[in-house]
Amino acid sequence: MSGILSPAAGAAINEVDDRSFRRLADRVYADCGIVLSDGKRNLVTSRLARRLRDLGLEDFDAYCRFIEAPDGAEERRQMISLLTTNVTKFFREAHHFTSLEQQVLPPLAERARAGGRVRIWSAGCSSGQEPYSIAATLRKVMPDAAKHDVRILGTDIDPEMIRLGRAAVYPDAAEAPIPPEMRRLMFGPAQPSDKVWRIVPDLKALVTLTELNLMQDWPMRGRFDVIFCRNVVIYFDAPTQARLWTRFAEVLAPGGFLFVGHSERVSGPAASQFGPAGVTQYRRL
Ligand SMILES: C[S@@+](CC[C@H](N)C(=O)[O-])C[C@H]1O[C@@H](n2cnc3c(N)ncnc32)[C@H](O)[C@@H]1O
Repeated sequence: MSGILSPAAGAAINEVDDRSFRRLADRVYADCGIVLSDGKRNLVTSRLARRLRDLGLEDFDAYCRFIEAPDGAEERRQMISLLTTNVTKFFREAHHFTSLEQQVLPPLAERARAGGRVRIWSAGCSSGQEPYSIAATLRKVMPDAAKHDVRILGTDIDPEMIRLGRAAVYPDAAEAPIPPEMRRLMFGPAQPSDKVWRIVPDLKALVTLTELNLMQDWPMRGRFDVIFCRNVVIYFDAPTQARLWTRFAEVLAPGGFLFVGHSERVSGPAASQFGPAGVTQYRRL
């Protein structure tokens, strides 16, 4: 369809006008809490221009009308998928995994072996590297984890990231700085020559990945013992962050751990419900 666009229409696609930018930013904020400040105009244009072209739309005003139409919900999901930043890696912020291994998981493993239930949530898990890094650490501490009631939940607003995480194939894992023991736990003892790095089935079985918008209702039952929500709230404004911390405090068991990103801090009323437990690591009081 792009072939039928006039040069003028092409130019319109390459720049978002003020009014359309505001409408898109308001919509994104309302749907998923992400704040698109004026400085994000180029990002919005570059990430959406191709989508407009594929849809045969002549400018951003037409795109706004398209997503705001009664049947625009699916396109709004697509738009959010295009606008989210999904950067992630295995064992990102390695000190969290050291703490998980040495401090957090051993008592939880004991509880699980005594018949208890253990739940870990990676909220904003992108394409799965975070929950699979947690799973490998769990397998190291508790090789028999699969025999007990221990589960890791990974959720993300972006359906494409959930699809990739479920596929659990990571072509760039070869270059990733993954500790050798963890590499073996995640991908098995040897790799086939075609360099397909696929998460081994027994590790994958510990992890459930599902689409969830943190701004909406959380359907999960029961409390979590550990929550990872890292490098997600940086895209939200202060009131949205504060509401989210309060909700995490509600679903985290007393004594449970919360891990946040390196530039993130628990703020607002929920701050009094958490104590420090390490670098960007909190414990529910
Ligand atoms: C930068 S990645 C961080 C991934 C991982 N936690 C890490 O630290 O490596 C941020 C993720 O948050 C997700 N996200 C953004 N807004 C969200 C929302 N409202 N609900 C759920 N996930 C959201 C994005 O889709 C993206 O995959």
